[in-house]
Amino acid sequence: MKKGTECVHAGYSPANGEPRQMPICQSTTFKYESSDAMGRLFDLEEPGYFYTRLQNPTNDRVAARIAALEGGVGACLTSSGQAANFFACFNICEAGDHMIAVANIYGGTFNLFGWTFRKMGIDVTFVEMDADEAALEAAFKPNTKLVFGETLTNPGVRVLDIEKFARVAHRHGVPLIIDNTFPTPVNCRPIEFGADIVTHSTTKYMDGQGVAVGGVVVDSGRFDWTAYPQRFPGLCTPDASYHGLVYTERFGNAAYITKLVTHLMRDLGSIPSPQNAFYLNLGLQTLHVRMKRHCESALAVAKFLESRPEVAWIEYPGLESDPCHALAQKYLPGGSCGVMAFGLKGDRARAVRFMDSLKLVTIETHVADCHTCILHPASHTHRQLSDEQLREAGVRPDLMRLSVGLEDVEDLIADIQQALDKK
Ligand SMILES: Cc1ncc(COP(=O)(O)O)c(C=O)c1O
Repeated sequence: MKKGTECVHAGYSPANGEPRQMPICQSTTFKYESSDAMGRLFDLEEPGYFYTRLQNPTNDRVAARIAALEGGVGACLTSSGQAANFFACFNICEAGDHMIAVANIYGGTFNLFGWTFRKMGIDVTFVEMDADEAALEAAFKPNTKLVFGETLTNPGVRVLDIEKFARVAHRHGVPLIIDNTFPTPVNCRPIEFGADIVTHSTTKYMDGQGVAVGGVVVDSGRFDWTAYPQRFPGLCTPDASYHGLVYTERFGNAAYITKLVTHLMRDLGSIPSPQNAFYLNLGLQTLHVRMKRHCESALAVAKFLESRPEVAWIEYPGLESDPCHALAQKYLPGGSCGVMAFGLKGDRARAVRFMDSLKLVTIETHVADCHTCILHPASHTHRQLSDEQLREAGVRPDLMRLSVGLEDVEDLIADIQQALDKK
């Protein structure tokens, strides 16, 4: 199936007389006829539902839809994008291990890795996204377990050279985890470029209406964990908490995602409610149509901003002048997303005056839904970061992040124009 058809149909095909729309299974538990039948589920001998913290039919269908869209073998929904990135790494990384992350990533993920992971005993090295292969090689240690990056960085909307990172990660026998939140699988499928695990904050375009916080982890099923049993003991050696089960032996190329569900979800929770999974599915059903419109409108707004004398700089990969344009043509040929970054000539007060003068575009700590919104990361999302950390994360102090929604683009440009005119 093509992507649009998958958005509407993958993961759920009702049988005769069943609901056409994916139903919400709002139940914490499931009934069994015999103690033995339920026991077999606990031993992972048979698939089935016993408690919604681990699995729920609505959540599973939505996860299956996203797995199909990304080209993976399986997926697990999480209660937020933060939980998705935490689980994706923690599934194969523990105290005493090391991981490598691109520095130019979402501030929340930067904090998770830079502070919380280090507190948990996981050592993290941040690397520049445009580092050459020799510089990336130098970041590896004997205990490195994974490499992490974002297809399109938040807030700078820079394009990651996924193939370069995949090549270096695989040379060192570790997987590449890619957060694909901004492009969504409609505009980029990182697995096709060598990523092994893909994550999302589904809170963004996948939901698209600003309704439900959520996340997802997708397993490509392509990484051969058994080639490095010592490096990934959690997947390749007996799990004492599951009667000595070896995930790779029992679940083959779905070992990683099965462990994430049965082990991490069991112990740490963080599942979304079936109601929120249902909302997410409503968003997925129109994702392919909305992404096209977001990209078309964003390109028109970016071209307008680029033409204005008040604008000091603008970064949007769709612009031919953008340094990432060539990478965007390779990884995002159908468009990137609706988000762009720009700065105005003048001081910080000028930026504040501009933002406060907007009438249709609203100031929000969000991106990537149907409402056009703007944010100044140095004063908002990234305010915990020092100037040095801001620079390390690729965020300029004057950067404003504009997320173009689904309104008529003429109205958006008129609003931006009147705010720019207020000198
Ligand atoms: C790229 C990216 N990853 C992860 C997250 C975290 O997602 P959530 O807010 O759903 O926890 C965000 C949030 O903005 C994000 O932009």
